[in-house]
Amino acid sequence: MPGTTPAPRACKLAPSILSADFARLAEAVGEAERAGADWIHVDVMDGHYVPDLTFGAKMVGDLHAATALPLDVHLMIERPERWIDRYADAGAAYLTVHVESTADVPATLDAIRRRGVHPGVTCDPDTPLERLLPHAGAADLVLVMSVRPGFGGQRFIPGSLERIAAVRRALDARHLGAELAVDGGIKPGNCRDVRDAGASVIVAGSGIYLDAEGVPAAIAKFRRMLA
Ligand code: DX5
Ligand code: ZN
Repeated sequence: MPGTTPAPRACKLAPSILSADFARLAEAVGEAERAGADWIHVDVMDGHYVPDLTFGAKMVGDLHAATALPLDVHLMIERPERWIDRYADAGAAYLTVHVESTADVPATLDAIRRRGVHPGVTCDPDTPLERLLPHAGAADLVLVMSVRPGFGGQRFIPGSLERIAAVRRALDARHLGAELAVDGGIKPGNCRDVRDAGASVIVAGSGIYLDAEGVPAAIAKFRRMLA
């Protein structure tokens, strides 16, 4: 109708437990769940693809038993194809791989899907989108990294808004319904820009788990900005 403004895109919130207390992860996940988080983002790091180490499939299985929320597992590991069965058995809802980490991206995405898990694909922020976009049709989630992968609490790379918009245009042009997730440096102050650039899932670690007012207050701040 002329004169009406389109409703803002609905946007899911996926707290990243990378910034939570690793000695109390079940509580951290439960707190986010009670506060209305949509998914839990689980960052798996192997000390090779990225310098740091976090945890593996056993942790995903134990968290799956502790929450009803879908686990959005971000694999920052070399040759992720070796581990698909373990993460599928553990109950991952989404398994996202980096195009830089695996020799045969289509085969890896296909293997994830054949295990009944939603395949996700991503790349580092300095990798050209031309390496990511050809895989969008085989993925249920395309993740735009807005920091260099490896650590929580980094600053949002400003050029990421352009990349989000470019991925949104590419998905829409091909009528692809994949989620467009964005990960890194997202706080209540910039989450609306990220959503307006085209994101459908916002990942936030330090912005939720390190908020001085606590997790429920942090989630409420994001929700207000995304309303
Ligand atoms: C970074 C991870 C992110 C991280 C985001 O390598 O992929 O998921 O937890 O943390 P913040 O929101 O603090 O940038
Ligand atoms: Zn992540």
